Amino acid sequence: DVGLAGELGQATGVGGGLVARDDRGVALQPQPQGGLADVVSSLPKDWEKDDHKTIIILPKYRDIDTSKFNIIPTDIIISVPISTWREYARLWIGTLPNSTVPVYFLESRDYFDRKGIYGNPEGFADNDRRFVFLSRAVFEVCKALNFRPDIIHSHDYHTGFAMAFLKTHYRYDPLFARCAGVYTIHNMAYQGQSDPRRVMEYAGFGTQNFRGSWFEHDSVVNMMKTALMFSDKITTVSPTYAYEIRWTNNGEGMQDYLNSRGGDVIGILNGIDETEWNPEIDTHLIKQYSPEMLEEKAENKLKLLREAIPTYDLKNDLPVIGMVSRLTDQKGIALLEKSMEQLLTSGRVRFLILGSGEKRYEDFFRYMGKKYPTRALVMTGYNNALSHQVIAASDYLIVPSLFEPCGLTQMYALKYGTIPIVRATGGLADTVQEYDPQQGTGTGFTFTQYSSKSLVNAVSRAVYYYKAQPHWDTLRVNAMAQQNESKRSADMYINVFRWALEKRGISIPT
Ligand code: GLC
Repeated sequence: DVGLAGELGQATGVGGGLVARDDRGVALQPQPQGGLADVVSSLPKDWEKDDHKTIIILPKYRDIDTSKFNIIPTDIIISVPISTWREYARLWIGTLPNSTVPVYFLESRDYFDRKGIYGNPEGFADNDRRFVFLSRAVFEVCKALNFRPDIIHSHDYHTGFAMAFLKTHYRYDPLFARCAGVYTIHNMAYQGQSDPRRVMEYAGFGTQNFRGSWFEHDSVVNMMKTALMFSDKITTVSPTYAYEIRWTNNGEGMQDYLNSRGGDVIGILNGIDETEWNPEIDTHLIKQYSPEMLEEKAENKLKLLREAIPTYDLKNDLPVIGMVSRLTDQKGIALLEKSMEQLLTSGRVRFLILGSGEKRYEDFFRYMGKKYPTRALVMTGYNNALSHQVIAASDYLIVPSLFEPCGLTQMYALKYGTIPIVRATGGLADTVQEYDPQQGTGTGFTFTQYSSKSLVNAVSRAVYYYKAQPHWDTLRVNAMAQQNESKRSADMYINVFRWALEKRGISIPT
């Protein structure tokens, strides 16, 4: 048995500037949440079912609600070597909801007790130091707990240096001598470029070892490249993205390094946590529903629209296109900026938007909301319950991403019988198949070219089938039947963990 899998995770944030209030006057919380957090929290729950033991290590970010999740301080103070000195963090402990998986939090006033997570959009000036600290602290946590991991699984550039530490400073440490490193790329667009004079010193490698090393790309330290070179296996969150980062510009300069790793680079499609996302048991919904009782989905729409538009009734019903998204360039918001008004004035659709992120995009949507108060319903901010309600209430969900490593909202939409309209890139291409009216197959509508014209065409195709039978029911039943549970992806990670150990010549208990 693979046994202990040490998991190293990060909660993501939805951008720095969260708006505390939405346009309906409801307080929205500045709660950190994103796809990375969803995935890192669902995998260990599935592993636990197969008796693998995981611990999760996270920074104790200020926004984490310790009392809500019963996260308590321990007496353990870990001591982390940085450059020629040591720095300290107190360990806090909690349990992943609906599981017995322990989650350890590193309390550090210097590094994590501040507003925001990454310091978006430009990043905190000391991110290099914060994340070297995090990546190294992991080993010291294991030592303090006397936890001997078979695998250290790290996510995105912030934890990339852990892959290097495993093969250098901790190589001969008895706790890690039989441990392999697996690195998962959730987003190639962020690589942790930093100043070698700082990072090489903090990490204990020495600036003199920098030139031409595995740490270097374009004359600076690149934490993404570092992880790509030092890890035993590399995964990314969908098969199409695994292709794109090797062979297209989505590789963001890392193509050659990835290709040098050959078969060590593996795409594993994310799954969704169906204890959180399932319309039959979702307590956030106004009305729960199943594929057999799709009429009840409509009650969610009615209630949400009535709240927003007092004059709304079924006589002025229109298809509702929802969106739940970070508002960044990655998400293709620029295409909506160009086409939303045209779609609204056509009088054929309504939009229901829940998003937060870059100010110019928030401003744009708020402006649309003001100009078309009965057709563009806009909420800026982040709210978990509302994100469930928006997905349940919408007829379609639009995800026009410029690039998308995996994307989870389209999978939530499918499960909720909400038809995705997506740009066929990365994980979106792997999860949504264009509807074929002849065969009655497919689960949504897709477009390939990154243009507002293609988006408008896809939306027109999609709304053509709105309530048009038998297509409308076929589409929704197909969507809800698609299997995307996280268990399948969790099992694939276990295989990759075995391969990583094999590669290091570590015998695997069966
Ligand atoms: C990042 C990616 C997104 C992916 C998520 C979880 O947020 O942008 O595409 O779904 O990580 O892997």
